[in-house]
Amino acid sequence: MVKVAPSILAADFSKLAEEVIEVEKLGADWLHLDIMDGHFVPNISFGAGVVKSLREHSQLFFDVHLMIENPDQYIPDFVNAGADLIVVHAEACCHLDRTIDLVKDFGLKVGVALNPHTPPEVLKFVIHKLDLVLVMTVNPGFGGQKFNPVMLRKIKKLNEWRENYGLGFLIEIDGGGGVENARELEAAGVDVIVAGTAVFGALDRAAAIAAIKGE
Ligand code: DX5
Ligand code: ZN
Repeated sequence: MVKVAPSILAADFSKLAEEVIEVEKLGADWLHLDIMDGHFVPNISFGAGVVKSLREHSQLFFDVHLMIENPDQYIPDFVNAGADLIVVHAEACCHLDRTIDLVKDFGLKVGVALNPHTPPEVLKFVIHKLDLVLVMTVNPGFGGQKFNPVMLRKIKKLNEWRENYGLGFLIEIDGGGGVENARELEAAGVDVIVAGTAVFGALDRAAAIAAIKGE
């Protein structure tokens, strides 16, 4: 069954802990934390301090998505804040192999995100080290955007590699994920669906979480 990772970017920032506690109680599998620096993406969200504060209120698996330049400089802060998985962007790392090792050396799970224009082939010589590949299904920076269906081809390609080469990485999608595309994504090989608006913007959050998971 596909996992759902609500993105707190769509939550009410004035009561973040309550929002996280609620989705945890309602069956969220992971929590997706979007870190934006105003350079790599044209928006600023929050930093390691917020992640650390939320860590005290939740047992969820913390999936930290770094949409920042110079990730190596900040990775230790997110490790200390209690991240379980750190996802860096291939486009933000000129020494991607080194950055992957840096996260792994801290004993954390590591993932690489690919912007829509980035072909999966950039991962060819590092993919065996990865716990997760994050396929951006919108251009990163904002919640509430429309899912890009061309990304299904990228997902299928990654799924093929995984099967053909016996690799163990998970496939996650981020952007425009929700009930309407969850089954198609699952069939294409997606393991984790990030859902901001589809969960936090839903009138019935419990139903939204269950429907995305396919329960
Ligand atoms: C986009 C972020 C996403 C975003 C998803 O840059 O990485 O995690 O919060 O939002 P929705 O689910 O609303 O498209
Ligand atoms: Zn994200």
